[in-house]
Amino acid sequence: MPGDSEQRLARPMEASEVDLVIDYFHQASPEYLNSLGVDPSRLPERAPWKAAIERQFALPIEQRKAFLVLWELGGVPVGFSTSDKITFGREAYMHLHILRPEHRQAGNGAFFVRQTARIYFEELRISRLFCEPYALNAAPNRTLQRAGFKYVKTHETVPGPLNFHQPVTRWVLEKGAI
Ligand SMILES: CC(C)(COP(=O)(O)OP(=O)(O)OC[C@H]1O[C@@H](n2cnc3c(N)ncnc32)[C@H](O)[C@@H]1OP(=O)(O)O)[C@@H](O)C(=O)NCCC(=O)NCCS
Repeated sequence: MPGDSEQRLARPMEASEVDLVIDYFHQASPEYLNSLGVDPSRLPERAPWKAAIERQFALPIEQRKAFLVLWELGGVPVGFSTSDKITFGREAYMHLHILRPEHRQAGNGAFFVRQTARIYFEELRISRLFCEPYALNAAPNRTLQRAGFKYVKTHETVPGPLNFHQPVTRWVLEKGAI
């Protein structure tokens, strides 16, 4: 178990913290974005992107199209999850990112994914949580399995507005399974 200075916490992100998400994508190399299935040319400029996220924070939870969760290690932000394709009361899709390589592959991702799933189940009142990572990106696929998600299928699609057309692997976590 990690000590106090390494205490891991997933919690709903504040509107004042969204620059972290934009910085993560804007500072990433094209090669890194490509490994996530993200097309660098599809990243919005900071101002409209931030405004769009802030509009989501202003909405009642039942009307949100996105919900964000921050991941902290010893009180320091080390990653985040976003959720989209939300059908309030039913289902949503999540994404997972640890900001820096030194915080990856140490069990943090699987731990944060489980904590985050509990937040989404509760806040969005959903009974099923999906995640659909790029099929060629081993890290999220392994992490979702480790966190208790079940494999559904592999198919080709454009999974979101930042992505290129790609094979994706669909995973699901049922509320009762966590
Ligand atoms: C995906 C991510 C959040 C996972 O977090 P993590 O802290 O690295 O994962 P964990 O240490 O909890 O590892 C969980 C499992 O994934 C495996 N794994 C993690 N990174 C891996 C990699 N790069 N290649 C292969 N397996 C990997 C671990 O070995 C472990 O497997 P196990 O269950 O067999 O023991 C993190 O690696 C990350 O942010 N990567 C870059 C961003 C990214 O790819 N996001 C996904 C976008 S859809």
